[in-house]
Amino acid sequence: MQCVYPLFPSCCIREPVITQQVAARAAQLQARALKELSDVPDAEGLEAWRVSYLGRKGEATLLKRSITEVPPESRREFGQAANAASEALASAFEARRTEIERPSGDDADAIDVTLPGVPSPIGSIHPITSTVREICAAFGDMGFEVVEGPEVELDHYNFEKLNIPKHHPARDSFNTLWVDKTGEDGERPLLLRTHTSPMQIRTMEKQDPPVRVIAPGKAYRYEATDATHEWHFSQVEGLAVDKGITFADLKGTLHEFARRLFGENVRVRFRCDYFPFVEPGAEMSIDWSSRSDNRGAKGEKQEENWMEILGAGMVHPKVLEGVGYDPAVYTGFAFGIGIERIAMLKHGIDDIRLFYSNDVRFLRQF
Ligand code: DAH
Repeated sequence: MQCVYPLFPSCCIREPVITQQVAARAAQLQARALKELSDVPDAEGLEAWRVSYLGRKGEATLLKRSITEVPPESRREFGQAANAASEALASAFEARRTEIERPSGDDADAIDVTLPGVPSPIGSIHPITSTVREICAAFGDMGFEVVEGPEVELDHYNFEKLNIPKHHPARDSFNTLWVDKTGEDGERPLLLRTHTSPMQIRTMEKQDPPVRVIAPGKAYRYEATDATHEWHFSQVEGLAVDKGITFADLKGTLHEFARRLFGENVRVRFRCDYFPFVEPGAEMSIDWSSRSDNRGAKGEKQEENWMEILGAGMVHPKVLEGVGYDPAVYTGFAFGIGIERIAMLKHGIDDIRLFYSNDVRFLRQF
């Protein structure tokens, strides 16, 4: 049988050479077409080129179609060669079209100032970061200076100097993550700080009173995670030491902080609590019942809804002594605020794990 396709007059005559012939012809066709394409001067010429090679009766199209004339055992190779040539021409066509359509000369590089800008996604501030900033701003206005310190901390600062010696039962509640190394002197054990309170000691060791600092940062505990617990979280520690500081200063300062964060009318409550590094110790809660979504189990409006947001107290005389401050002359108060808890209250978030799960659908809301 004679092949009807004129480019390959012998393709159906001698089967063993068919494949080679097809490959060679396809290559020739491709080379010739590409050469012509590069000479095409304008859109009109481009369209003519397209019709003659890729159109319904174009050479590349006919080449592919002539597969029906090829003996079955050679069709695979034939099809591959013909398709490859046709695809190469199609993509070269697209590239040439872009070239031709692009304005030429000096104008090509000119900036079109009337085009709309390309928006670049800048993201947003993480809700924990913005809460920390808000808290720092509130205390900053009250004269507190921001200090920062290490997350890998010495037992000495995390416990010892805070009046939590070895075997003190309070150590148990901290579920400490120990670091498999010791401090510079090779003896003192290292840990991931379980709270930001060691910054109290680091600050007082460095300076004489008066002291008025806050220390934002991360803390870690070996804890199972659930909706209200994470193994890492953020705190803001605070410390004020001077002559004549009283519990009234503590209450006034922390109430003012609550007003700044939750509004002028926020109600606060102080109750006794125990922390080894303060005496007396307290916790402060805020009344959340004024919020419209504050409902009880049966959907009823609740009278009061107290949420604890921080621990505080008057700095323990032993702690002052430990850093060389005379407790007969100086007094002070300290506090530690849980950031996640505050961010959850402010934004109505019911699961602490959302902060650190890196889900953009959550993060985009802030
Ligand atoms: N460090 C305590 C904790 O993580 C919080 C705390 C309580 C800090 C009382 C203080 C304080 O400075 O005075 O549980």
